[in-house]
Amino acid sequence: IVLPRIENEPNRNYASGSKERADLQHAVDEMMKSAPFEVPCIVNGKHIKTGDVAKQVNPSNHAQILCNYHQADEKLVQEAIEGALKAKQTWEEMPWADRAAVFLRAADLIAHKYRYKLMAATMLGQGKNVWQAEIDAAAEICDFFRFGVAQVSELYAQQPARHAPGSWNRMEFRPLEGFVLAVSPFNFTAIGGNLPGAPALVGNVVVWKPSPMATYSNYLVHQILTEAGLPAGVIQFTPGPPAEIVKACIDHKMFAALHFTGSTTVYKQLCKDIAANYDHYRNYPRMVGETGGKNFALVHPTADVDIVVNECIRGAFEYQGSKCSALSRLYVPASLWNNGGLKEKLVSQVGTISVGPVNEFQHFMGPVIAQTAFQRIMGFIESAKKAGGQVLAGGTGDNSVGFYIQPTIIETKDPRSTTMVNEIFGPVLTVFVYDDSKADYWQAISQEIDAATDYALTGSIFSRDRKAITEASAMLRYASGMLYIGQKPTGAQVGAQPFAGARASGNNYKAGSTGFFYQFVSARTVKESF
Ligand code: ALA
Repeated sequence: IVLPRIENEPNRNYASGSKERADLQHAVDEMMKSAPFEVPCIVNGKHIKTGDVAKQVNPSNHAQILCNYHQADEKLVQEAIEGALKAKQTWEEMPWADRAAVFLRAADLIAHKYRYKLMAATMLGQGKNVWQAEIDAAAEICDFFRFGVAQVSELYAQQPARHAPGSWNRMEFRPLEGFVLAVSPFNFTAIGGNLPGAPALVGNVVVWKPSPMATYSNYLVHQILTEAGLPAGVIQFTPGPPAEIVKACIDHKMFAALHFTGSTTVYKQLCKDIAANYDHYRNYPRMVGETGGKNFALVHPTADVDIVVNECIRGAFEYQGSKCSALSRLYVPASLWNNGGLKEKLVSQVGTISVGPVNEFQHFMGPVIAQTAFQRIMGFIESAKKAGGQVLAGGTGDNSVGFYIQPTIIETKDPRSTTMVNEIFGPVLTVFVYDDSKADYWQAISQEIDAATDYALTGSIFSRDRKAITEASAMLRYASGMLYIGQKPTGAQVGAQPFAGARASGNNYKAGSTGFFYQFVSARTVKESF
């Protein structure tokens, strides 16, 4: 099929006094009043209440339960796998235009009918403020579905270039033989949609384990796909204990692929567990893992200080630094930091950031996701202090009502200190001031950035000197999968910046690109002679 030009879903701005703001506020208020919701597992189109109930709380106010969800056990996951394998034939044989229509329709349902509901669930469940919810649960999820259809069409159109007279060479892009396991994270509802959605688009069936901390929004995504026409059994929604659910899937002979976004540690362990099962599988499983990050910004002495301040604040503190792409280590030249006023401007602007419940709309930052995250992040701040790090802003937290941590800036003299090298996944930016009076400073600091961590997800370079940009870009060639010049390292847009990282950050199959879908097809080459 050939589609008209696909555009990114336009962002709404929710200006004070606007109708869109009033409508969203209404959706949020209604959801707060009606919570807690009951969320079942969904297997073969049936809503199953297992009775083994866990809760998802509102991190802005942890006394409020957003939903009680029924957890799948090993037996239900077995049923989900067998049901998915039964649903597979009809789904993969459905004409591509019909499969595509399901996802195009789901995108339109989100954009026009469920936008505020899905945003409200993302705000109240995952702690996103209005604008962070908008770019995720309204825009990016629609973009994944719509661009996904265009990209799969492009993939299907890729055919061998050469035909000899009397024959026809062609490629059939079959889905994988078996089922896909999708394990999605809490921090993006759009990723919750794309992890099962991308493999399903090319005709696969999927067992989906959503994050416990995103259960409600992810359940709504499943409901919307169903309303859009997704047949029963194609995506099985099975929240619950990861070890049990994942084990049931990866122990199955027909396990065909893992589509994972989450921590490096968990992904590596899954790879080892899967490797241990290799003799047992029908096919070698495909592994698509998007994991951690320790994302950098490198500032050159020629950089525009105001741009650096603005972009670093947005990169480090939007969504409380809980994006895998968030900026967390900043390398600045001594000349700009002290005499150039960078330190003063950065610290004073961070001091004006408001932190509070996301339903109040006006706060730049909301809560971190959970008590475990709160403790981990505060623990990092404490250990940085003990090791001699100087807290220039923030450094405090309050978890009495919600899991709030003030935006924190730590200056360190040690470029390998704990908060410079470990992923924190919270609102903590560590600054290392390098000496730019030495002749080789640019090379030395680039080498340090490259060597300091195993991660390679995102990074930024700020400079007004083209030669410095070219050199740093070359020296940091493998230090990130996403390089931003002159801006924050977050906010990749589907269709514009295909997103993924390398090294310990993932396999670097770019989500939001045509090539990505190769991971979920198993092509057959056919030569027919006449
Ligand atoms: N795709 C998200 C970003 O770029 C993670 O910030």
